[in-house]
Amino acid sequence: MSNHPTERLGLYEAVQLAAHTIRHDAKGFVPQVGLILGSGLGAFADQFENAKAIDYADLPGFIPSTVHGHKGRLVLGERAGARCIAMQGRVHMYEGHSALTVSFPARVLVALGAKVIIVTNAAGGLNPKWPPGTLMLIRDHIDMLRDHALRGPNDDRLGPRFPDMTKTYAPELRSLAKEAAAGKGIHLEEGVYVAMPGPTYETPAEVKMLQTIGADATGMSTVPEVVVARHMGARVIGISCITNQAAGITGAELSHDEVTATAARVRTTFETLLDAILGQLVARGEIA
Ligand code: HPA
Repeated sequence: MSNHPTERLGLYEAVQLAAHTIRHDAKGFVPQVGLILGSGLGAFADQFENAKAIDYADLPGFIPSTVHGHKGRLVLGERAGARCIAMQGRVHMYEGHSALTVSFPARVLVALGAKVIIVTNAAGGLNPKWPPGTLMLIRDHIDMLRDHALRGPNDDRLGPRFPDMTKTYAPELRSLAKEAAAGKGIHLEEGVYVAMPGPTYETPAEVKMLQTIGADATGMSTVPEVVVARHMGARVIGISCITNQAAGITGAELSHDEVTATAARVRTTFETLLDAILGQLVARGEIA
């Protein structure tokens, strides 16, 4: 068993407990935006103003990632005029956790008050025209994970039993993100993210399948967190950094080093884009 506080307390109560702990530590700070920073992007939160950091180890239900490049702490502060709460690093299902466990922190961000969740990740490109380093706004996703974040009894205080997924990635916020990118001269593609269990990268045969079913980028995270954010009524923006072309496209073998090297190369562009999006969310009153 995982010994997650959810099992002892129930999901709703465990979310409230973690939210209470953070609120207390952060002296009543109420975030407007929650950011989940994927591989190589964590440093974005190091530049928050009036920042307060809390290690996952000090928060009930938050688990430090075992993956190189993921820090494992929460940072609260201001950025581009928005009150933000950022996860520097996340856990993945392939580390041995259920979808419920990996999505738990996202629930806490929403419970604390975040109305918009911005989720980022590193992903393999399925579209052969996209070179490594391409940024992709997530238009929609396909869930190929073998567990679901909402499996089990539903607590109506958190959200409905059967959430609609028609506008999972808020269309008006996708327009906002595209305009924010254009305003900074940043090239932003748009496409469908598919979540695969990992931790192996896909086989070339799987890559063909994923291309056939309409996916543009493949990764091992994001979907559980997005699902719970939508379950709780937050609006979601998702951005993938295409760190490599998926297996079999060029014939080259894949490595985590390539993933982190590309993420590092694109980091300042990605941060500029996130800043521009936050600025637009504030300017347009989307998080007022
Ligand atoms: N596949 C799955 N996940 C990934 C990849 C990939 O090619 N690159 C970065 N994360």
